Formats: sequence, C-alpha cells, structure tokens
Amino acid sequence: MTSINFIVAKDDLDQCKTITTRLPDADALPQDVLLVRVDRFAFTANNITYAVLGDELKYWQLFLEPSGFGNIPVWGFGDVIASKHPHVAVGERLFGYFPMATHLVIEATDVSKRGLRDGAAHRQGVAPVYNAYARVSGDPAYAGRHGDYQALLRPLFMLSFLVDDFLAEHDDFGAGAVLLSSASSKTAFGLAHLLHRRGRKVIGLTSAGNTGFVTSLGCYDEVVSYDRVTSLPSDAPVAFVDMAGNSALRAELHRHFGSQMKCSLRVGLTHRATAADEGELPGAKPRWFFAPDQIRRRAKEWGPGGIEQRLGAAWSGFAPLLERCLTVVESRGPEAVRQIYLDTLKGRIPPEQGHMLSLLG
Ligand SMILES: NC(=O)c1ccc[n+]([C@@H]2O[C@H](COP(=O)([O-])OP(=O)(O)OC[C@H]3O[C@@H](n4cnc5c(N)ncnc54)[C@H](OP(=O)(O)O)[C@@H]3O)[C@@H](O)[C@H]2O)c1
Repeated sequence: MTSINFIVAKDDLDQCKTITTRLPDADALPQDVLLVRVDRFAFTANNITYAVLGDELKYWQLFLEPSGFGNIPVWGFGDVIASKHPHVAVGERLFGYFPMATHLVIEATDVSKRGLRDGAAHRQGVAPVYNAYARVSGDPAYAGRHGDYQALLRPLFMLSFLVDDFLAEHDDFGAGAVLLSSASSKTAFGLAHLLHRRGRKVIGLTSAGNTGFVTSLGCYDEVVSYDRVTSLPSDAPVAFVDMAGNSALRAELHRHFGSQMKCSLRVGLTHRATAADEGELPGAKPRWFFAPDQIRRRAKEWGPGGIEQRLGAAWSGFAPLLERCLTVVESRGPEAVRQIYLDTLKGRIPPEQGHMLSLLG
C-alpha cells in the first residue's frame, strides 16, 4: 500500500511535487500504531506561513520527507483504516494536524475518551497541540459544513481569541481604535468580530481589491486600502495587530501615528515582505505575539477547561457569521491540490473562499 504526499522545496516554495511513499502493511503494524487515511483538510495563507517558518518553528520536523523538501502541516480529518491500539477502532474519525498526504502512520499514545497523541519521536520537538488528535466520530460539531468551518477557522480563531483577550487585559493599551492589516484574512476577521463585540472601534487595512469583502463582513467600523493609510487621523491613540507582516506598511503606520501608536503586535506574514533589519520606529516597539505564553498564563488563572469554555462561547457567536461570508470550495486529487497551493502562495484566492482539499482522487 502507498501514500501520495504533496511536498515543497524548503528553500523555494514555488517548487512542489507529489511523491509516492510505501506504507507499512496493515497486518504488520507495531503495537499501538494506527494507519490513518487523510480524508480532507483546510488550506489557507496560514499554511503558507507554516512553510515560511518551517525551519525556525520546526514545522518541517512533523512529517519527514526527502532531503530539501518539506510537507506542510494542515488541519483536517482522517479515518483510522488499521489499528494495533486496543482502544482505537478501525473507522474512527480524528481531527488534528495532518501532512498534505493521503495517509499518516500514528504511534497512538495518551489515548483518552476525547483524544490521543502521536508519540513518534521526531514529532516531540514542537508544542503539544501539534501532536494532539481529537476523536470526533459522530460529533455533530465536526460533521459536514461545521467540520469544514472547524478545520478552516478554529485554529485561526484561537489566535483571534487570544489576541482579543490580551488587548482587553491591557485595556487596549489606551487605544481608541484597533488597526488590523490583511483585514480580509480569516484570522483578522475573527479578531475584528471579537473586538467589535466588545465595543472597540476596528479599522481594517486591506488591498484595494478586497475592500468590498471586508466592508461586507460588518465587523469593521472603517475599511482603508493600503495606499490610503496616511489619510487616517493620527491625533488619537491606536493599537496595531499585524497579520500582513509587511515591513514597509508597518513603518508607514508607525511614522504616521508616531507616539499615538500605543501597541504594535506582529501575528502573521501573509505578504511575506519582512525586512531583516527594520531599525527603530516611532511609537510602541513592534513585538511578536506569542500565543503559547498567553495560553499558559490563562490556563493557570482560569483553571482546567477555562480557556476551552470561553473559546467555545466566543466560537458560538462567531460561527453564524461564517454561513454568510464564507464559501467552502472543495477540491480533490493531486493536480487540484497543486493548483490551490500555488494560488494560495501567490495570493490569488478570493477572501470569501475557504478551501477544503483532499489528495484522494
Ligand atoms: N502567530 C500565530 O500563532 C498565528 C495564528 C493564526 C494565524 N496567523 C497568521 O495570520 C495570517 C493570516 O492567516 P489566514 O489563514 O487567516 O489567512 P487567509 O484567510 O488565507 O488570508 C488571505 C488574505 O491574506 C492576504 N494574502 C494572502 N496571501 C497573500 C499574498 N501572497 N500576497 C499578498 N497578500 C496575501 C490577502 O489579504 P489582504 O489583501 O487583506 O492583505 C488575502 O485576502 C497568516 O500569516 C497566519 O500564519 C498566526
């Protein structure tokens, strides 16, 4: 039996190909090992960022490929097709971090009613969340369209939730308005929804072609295209959450707002235009928002289940927006996956689309 894997050159993301790898015989799997067929997975700009930071944040270590190539991690669903674990049955559905492939071999460990972990040695250098699989068979929240929304947005919404929480905790650093770059991205509009809900003024910065979509979301009070950011009034305090990671835009905003720039958080890299050395900028010093720190602190303060409970409540308020503003597009087979990968890499995906892919034909 074989797996089809979609791999990219680590030092040149334009280069990609599919390869076929041999899988172990189902009968000869070692104790506790599962063979999983990867059924469907989401693909957004966030996955491109995983590839851009693959070496730095060890994403390439999760799913090993031939030298020079990497397999981009994706959030999605897999079905157990062979199991040597006494408590995991064939036919079970798992949700978690998968490779862009048709199959994955998992060394099941820490198996509980709700989930399990892959204990493979090469996967242990990353945050535990990347090795965890939820057991979701029969769970309506992970079925059909709701399942697609989970794969497409839930991991991103976690970040939106944590940034909103961080800003709220600091009284938004005294800012009267929060600026979001790549306002059309799923991570940004999740955050805009949360900020808007607690009465913050939210200003979306986006490319000229995406202003219509961003305005239609209804959670931005104002939408400004990148070429017009200096038309914003600069005499009141603002906070900036940067999903685009564009050095030139960041410098322009800091110079425009000067000391009124009260907080500048780096979150994403959608534009992949970051200068190595930016030099000093006026206003608050830009800093990376590191989600695991916020999670660790809140887990301690809120106790067991505290984050999940609050995140779940926030998600219930957000999910209805998705029905209205997101069209799920499904594509199957290696050629379709290649096309969506390249379109995402080049920024050619319309923001109202959410892509669910499968390498299975
Ligand atoms: N630090 C964390 O823990 C964390 C967690 C979640 C997400 N993020 C980051 O947040 C960012 C957004 O991710 P997402 O999955 O939400 O994105 P998405 O929904 O796929 O975003 C699409 C938008 O990003 C911009 N974009 C994408 N590719 C581009 C390209 N090649 N050139 C120019 N613009 C491009 C465009 O927005 P505009 O026209 O509006 O610029 C586009 O409409 C990613 O960098 C992701 O890694 C970070």
